[in-house]
Amino acid sequence: MSGRMSGRVQGLPCRMGKRKFSKLEITLIVLFCLVVVALCVLIGLLATRDSASSEDAAVATAQRVDCIPDQIATKSLCSRRGCCWSPLSDPNAPWCYFSSDHGYTVDGDLVTTQQGLQAALARLPSPSLFGQDIDNLLLTTQHQTPNRLRFKITDPNNQRYEVPHEHVGSFTDPAASNLNYKVEVQHNPFGIKVIRASTGKVVFDTTIGPLVYANQFLQLSIRLPSGNIYGVGEQIHKRYQHDLNWRVWPIFTRGTNPSANVENLYGAQTFFLCLEDESGASLGVFLMNSNAMDVTMQPAPAVTYRVTGGVLDFYVFLGDTPEQVVQEYVQFIGLPTLPSYWTLGFQLSRYNYTSLDEVKAVVEQNRALDLPYDVQYIDIDYMENWKDFTYDKERFRDLPNFRAFLNEQGQKYVLMLDAAVGMSPMADGSPYLAYQRGQSRGVWLNESDGHTPLIGKVWPGLTVYPDFTNPECSDWWLEECRLFYDQVPFDGIWIDMNEPTNLLEGSTKGCEDNEYNYPPFTPHVVNRLLYSMTTCMDARQYLGIHYDVHSLYGYSMAISTRRAIEVLFPGKRSFLLSRSTFAGSGKFTGHWLGDNTASWDDLKWAIPGMLEFGLFGIPYIGADICGFFVDTTEELCRRWMQVGAFYPFSRNHNSEECAPQDPAVFGANSLLVNSSKHYLNIRYTLLPYLYTLFYRAHTRGDTVLRPLLHEFYAENTTWSVDRQFLWGPGLLISPVLDPGVEVIQAYIPDAVWYDYDSGASLGQRKQWVALHLPADKMGVHLRGGYILPTQQPATTTVASRKNPMGLIVALDDKKEAVGELFWDDGESTGTIESKSYISYNFTVANNVLEMQVLHSGYVDPNQLRFTQVKVLGVASAAQTVTVTQNGQQIPSSHSVTYNSQTQFGNWN
Ligand code: GLC
Repeated sequence: MSGRMSGRVQGLPCRMGKRKFSKLEITLIVLFCLVVVALCVLIGLLATRDSASSEDAAVATAQRVDCIPDQIATKSLCSRRGCCWSPLSDPNAPWCYFSSDHGYTVDGDLVTTQQGLQAALARLPSPSLFGQDIDNLLLTTQHQTPNRLRFKITDPNNQRYEVPHEHVGSFTDPAASNLNYKVEVQHNPFGIKVIRASTGKVVFDTTIGPLVYANQFLQLSIRLPSGNIYGVGEQIHKRYQHDLNWRVWPIFTRGTNPSANVENLYGAQTFFLCLEDESGASLGVFLMNSNAMDVTMQPAPAVTYRVTGGVLDFYVFLGDTPEQVVQEYVQFIGLPTLPSYWTLGFQLSRYNYTSLDEVKAVVEQNRALDLPYDVQYIDIDYMENWKDFTYDKERFRDLPNFRAFLNEQGQKYVLMLDAAVGMSPMADGSPYLAYQRGQSRGVWLNESDGHTPLIGKVWPGLTVYPDFTNPECSDWWLEECRLFYDQVPFDGIWIDMNEPTNLLEGSTKGCEDNEYNYPPFTPHVVNRLLYSMTTCMDARQYLGIHYDVHSLYGYSMAISTRRAIEVLFPGKRSFLLSRSTFAGSGKFTGHWLGDNTASWDDLKWAIPGMLEFGLFGIPYIGADICGFFVDTTEELCRRWMQVGAFYPFSRNHNSEECAPQDPAVFGANSLLVNSSKHYLNIRYTLLPYLYTLFYRAHTRGDTVLRPLLHEFYAENTTWSVDRQFLWGPGLLISPVLDPGVEVIQAYIPDAVWYDYDSGASLGQRKQWVALHLPADKMGVHLRGGYILPTQQPATTTVASRKNPMGLIVALDDKKEAVGELFWDDGESTGTIESKSYISYNFTVANNVLEMQVLHSGYVDPNQLRFTQVKVLGVASAAQTVTVTQNGQQIPSSHSVTYNSQTQFGNWN
């Protein structure tokens, strides 16, 4: 745990006393119900009398905010809650919905502060949904930047739990000037509107529904300017653009196998992006809250957050483009780490390698293919009885030398560590020292008494859970990593089961019947039980009750592990991959989409999943290539290897009981191997471009794997394209995602596009195009107007980094193009701060390729030169281009010649 996160102890437990109603209150509530029922009937009658068109009725239905989000709605419960009852033929739309008499009213005047506004809010008398409503609230707005508004609703009389975030701290600056938004507060019932200053459009409007603020149930609905909504996670979204048909998405970290059912998965991500229209204007919404919640999408269009604790702490980001909104959000939560260059290479893994000899044999067989292949993983199999910081001295006897075995050939070794720590002694009866040391330092997550370690069960049998929010635990973890590293050196760390996962429900003792384990409102999490497959919610952690901090477990583990990495690899970035994430995890770690299945559906769903993690500021993302569960097939694996070559994190990983699926098992000259090599070679050729995109993500918050709508928002077809994706602005990937298919319909946005392999211009744009993609092919197109830096590929990045560099210049309609390159040693930390890097801007216009050196603080040991410039889109048969560096013409021997036949130029 970094000093900052552990230093800010805000995690006071929520107050949970039970409150009884007085007779007067009961009478008032009954009266209120009668009035509401009368009002609803009247509204209903008026609606029928007006014989509203079915369109109006649909609008009215779309605007309903569900008053019974927790169970099957009945008329009697509806009237007890003081809501309107009106059954519909649509089973998804709420039959019981709030009237405008619910919520809060602004009590007194709005007060202008140095940072924004403040207002006292008083609860309108209405029946309680879940008890313990808080009558008086405080609204605080902060106009933090011209594009970022924060509004926070708190209990002024009681400190409630707030997320102890590592990166986002308290904000003390005065209000920004030149705001691109205006804030309007509706007084009765209370609501807040955000208006885009340039257009006067209301882009965020909570007046669609009531504010509900009880001890364990907080609700706010937001009407949005369009239904182009993307984000929130982690769940499987079959499509990237949200389905607004009353879909409920639970958010609460959980180690479950991803499936198409609506389920909460490994990470907690509360951010979404909304594209307003063809102008590109977009907004982002982020709720800083780590409690379990549901997020509902409805056709209004609107989004409702229903949260089980903490405070409502919303941030609204405005941008002129979707990409700008992501940048603002990511800068706010913490810019992602710059990956080591080698982690952009292809990686192999599987669960259930039975011995180190088997791993080595797999490595050798795949090396023999001459396949680009940088990293080998060993899953928990290396451990003795699945205990962290141990290794099996028989089957993995030679593990201490494994890193050297890989490093000799330029490859790297990534070690897996699980969250839970086994308790039993070693097989020979000797003590399990890592456990004992942790036990004596008191670093585990405890039961509700605050001192008895909570016991669960994971792979090693009975386990305890390190409490990574405790600085002492973080120190223990670092020390264990160091001790183990001294025995078994490795290059990077993969952390897993950190939701945290428990194979028991809660603990060996079960969980007590109290308000944390059984809150009055349980979101639609798996089994409708918060402690399902995890620890009890009343467990105690250093920074609070597990109920509040549960979804920070993986985040805090990543911070502690990153701290260990800093000590083990001084001055080096190394590598970290985590299954569970929270907002801002990208600053410390990458992520993979977890235990998918070898199915064509999972192949498709990986694209929306990866695009979403781009929004969440975790651009280093991928899915298990060829599928984790279930035996893959040659065709599926081949298509997956093709598209997987363009996952930012490109790893083939397989589960315990499944047939091997590393490329070599398909045969050295198989179609699968040849096609995989072809696309991995393209990946390696383009690594300087990919690395530069990561530099932009790291310094500015750009997406790497980019949805088409981020570049082509003016074309509304792109708003729902999620079977294709871009690398940055300049490369379009159109994979085959269905069995037996050789022709796909790809959307080709409005630009000039060149086929990567042939260099031929596609000739079609702004339309769906049938691409013929036989078994060994997928669509890879370069966008006219962009210059991509390249390097000749090799079987590892250690080798490829010594090869000559080049440029692919794809000219647009005006015969122009732009591009850039960021280059450093690819592994040291702080190269940007110490200015130990090279950066170039490239432009082509009027037949001049200008290479502007922006910075030259790094001397590459390989004396790299751009030896090959490939120019696409040349008009006449033979031309000469002048190359200038910082405006100075480079001597003629260095000029590039090229022609439209070969489209190659040599620059020696
Ligand atoms: C979890 C991980 C998976 C790993 C397995 C065994 O299921 O998600 O990737 O192989 O545990 O460690």
